[in-house]
Amino acid sequence: GDMRDKNLLRQLFSEFEIDAVIHFAGLKSVGESVNNPIKYWEFNLGSTLCLMKIMQKFCCNCLVFSSSATIYDSSINKRIEENSKIKPINSYGNTKLAIETLIKDIFLSSKSLWKMANLRYFNPIGAHESGLIGEDPKGEPNNIFPLILRVASKKINKLEIFGNDWPTHDGTGIRDYIHVEDLAEGHIKALDFLFKNQSQIINLNLGTGLGTSVLELIRTFEKVTNIEIPFAYSPRRIGDSPSVVADNSLAKEILGWNPKKNIADMCNDGWKWQSYNPNGY
Ligand code: UFG
Repeated sequence: GDMRDKNLLRQLFSEFEIDAVIHFAGLKSVGESVNNPIKYWEFNLGSTLCLMKIMQKFCCNCLVFSSSATIYDSSINKRIEENSKIKPINSYGNTKLAIETLIKDIFLSSKSLWKMANLRYFNPIGAHESGLIGEDPKGEPNNIFPLILRVASKKINKLEIFGNDWPTHDGTGIRDYIHVEDLAEGHIKALDFLFKNQSQIINLNLGTGLGTSVLELIRTFEKVTNIEIPFAYSPRRIGDSPSVVADNSLAKEILGWNPKKNIADMCNDGWKWQSYNPNGY
């Protein structure tokens, strides 16, 4: 269903006894958000407003929200902490920050009632290890991992690497890739934590704390799958930064969460999904 549909939400909350909500729904293409900000504000903010109204009405006071590392100032040159500078640079990031602000305002209006967690994702990739659940992008993807999968399955000829002149060890951009299963486990742990503790609002980084360059990601993918990924260098992409890596110590400490899967697992499981489902769902 569409989360902006108040009647649908009312019906769901009437029919089921809902104790908590994990709010994943949202549009997430950075480029599209810059070209169509109204759509992003309408979908991302509109749906959350609808949800929060219904949660309040039905006294459902526990929320885990899918936020994003994109809200941070990406020019920060060290591991990003939860209290690092916030400075989104595109409409997508602005909507994620606005939702966090909305959630905080709601918390402050009734501090003894709400239990809320903003989970700030770094770069989730991979698929469920069964190969049965994975990402099926609509239209042309612009994130690196689905593009690697398209090159591997010969749907496109080569990968464009945006810049080999970044101030990193091999000149390509560094990101904190996290296996989607570790990310999913972070949500369950966050929910458990909220259920067991006093009302509060917390912000948590979900990343591995490890940086991987574009070249390292490609090389690992090639090694794990035995498939060559042809690539060419092109100029830096506007708005990109050299390195974005999480300080994940707070999530580890508070949730007792520990991401277990490495880049090879992410590549292996992502490729399993792609080869079992060459045309998506
Ligand atoms: N890259 C390429 N070629 C491509 C696509 C990406 O070289 O065709 C590079 C980028 O320059 C960057 C890295 O691969 O160095 C990762 O790029 P992605 O587009 O996959 O991811 P981003 O880090 O740019 O952004 C992602 C999500 C955002 C999220 C952000 C959090 O797309 O939604 O991580 O930091 F907010």
